[in-house]
Amino acid sequence: MMVMRQLFCTAMLCMALAAPALAQNKAGEALYATHCVVCHQVQAVGVPGIAPALVGNIGRHASHEAGRAYLARVMLTGLVGPIQVDGVRYNGNMPSFAKLNDEEVAHVLTHVLSTYESVSDLAWLTPAFVAATRQLGGTPNDTHQKRSRLTSATGG
Ligand code: HEC
Repeated sequence: MMVMRQLFCTAMLCMALAAPALAQNKAGEALYATHCVVCHQVQAVGVPGIAPALVGNIGRHASHEAGRAYLARVMLTGLVGPIQVDGVRYNGNMPSFAKLNDEEVAHVLTHVLSTYESVSDLAWLTPAFVAATRQLGGTPNDTHQKRSRLTSATGG
């Protein structure tokens, strides 16, 4: 009987712990559908020459500090200027999503990185991290420069 109760409690605890992550993914998925899918497409495959794929592209930035800062920044400032992804040139305009709150930015990026890029270490991607990035300000052009430095460092 004791064992049964313990098992039951453990199962309940697991559900309680898993619930926020699931809720976050649902929120991120909905935000992606509302704000991103029109350009970056279902499964984030992009449109060649128009909007770059996020899948197979942005996950590599999630493992280091400068890359993480870049990812949050793109969302807040947007991005202009020529870039190259998978050998295809883009010179589009990624709009700023500064109108989304810190939690929403964290949710939508979490969705893209975990669902399309299979990044599992996302503990850094908190609303507080987004808030700190927002404080730094910046322009789409600054963000483009930051991207150039990242890609010249990683060869991408
Ligand atoms: C109006 C079309 C459009 C929408 C909507 C849009 N993007 Fe973009 N996004 C772009 C374009 C175009 C670029 C590349 C900009 C350039 O050429 O400099 C880009 C670039 C990016 C990058 C940087 C990719 C890289 O290789 O560095 C990320 C990350 C990104 N978008 C995420 C998102 C997310 C998440 C959303 C939804 C919240 C979103 N975008 C909505 C058009 C869009």
